[in-house]
Amino acid sequence: MKKAALITGGAVRIGKAVALALAERGYDIALHCRNSEKQAVRLAGAVRRAGRDCEVFCCDLSDPAAALELVPAVRRRFPHCRLLINNASVFERGTLRDLSPSSWRRIMAVNLDAPVFLTRAFAAAFRRGHVVNLCDAKAAANFTSHFAYTMSKKALLDFTAMSAAGLGPAVRVNAVAPGLILPSREFGTRDLVRLSAGLPLGRKGTVSDVVSAVLFLEDNPYITGQTVYVDGGMHLL
Ligand SMILES: NC(=O)c1ccc[n+]([C@@H]2O[C@H](COP(=O)([O-])OP(=O)(O)OC[C@H]3O[C@@H](n4cnc5c(N)ncnc54)[C@H](OP(=O)(O)O)[C@@H]3O)[C@@H](O)[C@H]2O)c1
Repeated sequence: MKKAALITGGAVRIGKAVALALAERGYDIALHCRNSEKQAVRLAGAVRRAGRDCEVFCCDLSDPAAALELVPAVRRRFPHCRLLINNASVFERGTLRDLSPSSWRRIMAVNLDAPVFLTRAFAAAFRRGHVVNLCDAKAAANFTSHFAYTMSKKALLDFTAMSAAGLGPAVRVNAVAPGLILPSREFGTRDLVRLSAGLPLGRKGTVSDVVSAVLFLEDNPYITGQTVYVDGGMHLL
């Protein structure tokens, strides 16, 4: 049976790897992006050359009206969409003392409000399927240097459980919580290697570790409300 997946922030990094892995497994891809349109168009070409259908949907998920439009637009193009990957995210430093109402709102809008309302729209539009939320292993602790980001991911973990309880049996909802995987503007590869030396598994993870957790959750129809930590044991510390 034909299946499609919607991946937010799917043009680069982890989202791109998830999109490619799903395309290899036969999914058509609704590829959402905001600024990375060029990369998204290139990736869409690669997906099509691999024999799957792909279309790029650009919108700013910090704008609630734009976020509300995304699922209906995907439904018109891919009525067979059965998987939503809430991957788009803003990662920004800032303690509670530094916090401004505007940065709180922007981070919450992308990292929490968008997954909540996309999940709601997905369940209403497609009636059945699976949602995977990309959370963060740091949400298991209190990462106070990134207050709003960590709060958003803590709430996303609870949203995963509550929405799974509320949307079954037609819709499953799960989460993947990566640990130290890819460098960011703040933490370079060397920082990740140094920090990961203190983890129970003693090394940083890879993008394919994250992708395989997403595929595992998608493959197992009897799992819902679950968070898989792909973090070398970081959440245990
Ligand atoms: N990388 C890691 O090591 C790591 C660790 C823990 C958790 N995670 C989680 O895993 C997921 C993927 O990680 P990542 O590092 O690949 O993500 P990322 O590069 O930080 O962000 C993914 C995409 O989110 C999109 N985005 C940001 N703001 C947006 C907005 N206002 N509207 C629409 N899209 C927006 C961007 O799309 P455009 O580029 O198109 O603008 C960006 O490419 C994230 O949810 C992240 O929190 C990652």
